[in-house]
Amino acid sequence: SVIILDFGGQYSQLIARRVRESQIYCEILSYKTPVEDIMRKNPRAIIFSGGPASVYSENAPACDKRIFELGIPILGICYGMQLMCHLLGGKVKRAGVREYGRARLYVEEEDGIFYGLEDNFDVWMSHGDSIEVLPPGFKTLARTENTPHAAVSNGKNLFGVQFHPEVVHTTRGREILNNFLFGVAGCKGTWTMKAFIDEQVEKIKERVKDKKALCALSGGVDSSVAAVLTHKAVGDNLVCIFVDHGLLRKNEAENVVKIFKEKFNINLIAVDAKERFLKRLKGVTEPEQKRKIIGEEFIKVFEDEAKKLGSIDFLVQGTLYPDVIESGTETAAVIKSHHNVGGLPKDLKFELIEPLRDLFKDEVRKVGLKLGLPEEIIFRHPFPGPGLAIRVIGEVTEEKLNILREADAIVMEEMKKAGLYKDLWQAFAVLTDIKSVGVMGDERTYSYTVAVRAVNSEDGMTADWARLPYDVLDRISARIVNEVWGVNRVVYDITSKPPATIEWE
Ligand code: XMP
Repeated sequence: SVIILDFGGQYSQLIARRVRESQIYCEILSYKTPVEDIMRKNPRAIIFSGGPASVYSENAPACDKRIFELGIPILGICYGMQLMCHLLGGKVKRAGVREYGRARLYVEEEDGIFYGLEDNFDVWMSHGDSIEVLPPGFKTLARTENTPHAAVSNGKNLFGVQFHPEVVHTTRGREILNNFLFGVAGCKGTWTMKAFIDEQVEKIKERVKDKKALCALSGGVDSSVAAVLTHKAVGDNLVCIFVDHGLLRKNEAENVVKIFKEKFNINLIAVDAKERFLKRLKGVTEPEQKRKIIGEEFIKVFEDEAKKLGSIDFLVQGTLYPDVIESGTETAAVIKSHHNVGGLPKDLKFELIEPLRDLFKDEVRKVGLKLGLPEEIIFRHPFPGPGLAIRVIGEVTEEKLNILREADAIVMEEMKKAGLYKDLWQAFAVLTDIKSVGVMGDERTYSYTVAVRAVNSEDGMTADWARLPYDVLDRISARIVNEVWGVNRVVYDITSKPPATIEWE
């Protein structure tokens, strides 16, 4: 495997993705990881990430110098390169100005990492400091106009680059990383999704043996893939609980049951809890209040069902690698609040099975497809735990839910028909609490307004409203007012996040 030593760089995860795209397994570890622990993992190569610090600043993240004596190939990127040079006796110059953006790289020596490449191409720079004096035994492999030592090496196992080979703006970035991984380090590239599945199945089998595992299935990608993978390992020793809170999209509950019960033969308990949720939501209009009620009720229903099953030893969860990194390595800056309704019941005691905790989302999708899950689940847009309750503005009633479900189904259908679904982060309908006057036939109507929302986003943290083609919007609008009883007006939400959020509540 390959270890990425994280010095707090914003691109650490991206480096990991690149390595894995080359079918090499890698892990991100904090720069504080003791050398002994790194050695125990027996890595073929180590990559030092970038980072926001300067090697001279107080508390600058540094690793143990002995790491350079292991004989393992190391590639330092940006801060990682500066740290390598600093620790090995070179000199880093504090720069007043940051060099940021595209720069032309001139390769002077085709040694190792530049093997087979042109002698100049564009790279992406993002640094303040740079190398002034090389450590003893090092040489310069490439320069840019502003950075005389843009790539360095000791001619053996140590390499450093001031630019970022992991971002797409470095046109030959992939080749440079591959030259390092395959050429210098001799990695094999045998880590495939099939290998991953086989390995996980063996691991889960060994852990669970003939004990019982439980999974809260939501129908989302992560819990679905985790469930099917675990089922492959332990069969009927896995029980899945699917809570239908009555706040799902049209046909969604039926589809989940069909797929998991009929196609995969999974031991699935589908709990019809519609009444319970509606009753508790009666009269509630405040968004946070809705969320709180649904979260609490979900856990209660789940616990009630789990208790009926007797003793359960394991709980399967679809935790992904970004979640692990965000809560795990201290260097990462943002911690997302996970407001999933499928939160952990507090007083039930389980051990966790998290078969996806090494994977990124796109890898989970590949695993899911390989396991035979249908595309409609694998490429499903994110859906909030509280479901349609936070898309029905104001009080949630059965009638309003039904109106929204019909309108939303039309939005989905038209997005898919227009081939836009996969490119959007999310698309959905909102039932506003506004009624307005309209005319249908010769009659005055006084009915609901539906808002359509479609956004593009990388991670849901920021988003931009999608510039949907007018004719798609037109079809959606025409169909909703014609086909959905109780709606006489459709508007399109043209607000980005921030300042709006993606959901309306
Ligand atoms: P907002 O509305 O905060 O949403 O811009 C950002 C992303 O998170 C989803 N979302 C949720 N997901 N439970 C979830 O699992 C929730 O309670 C929840 N609330 C919002 C939202 O759909 C969007 O993708």
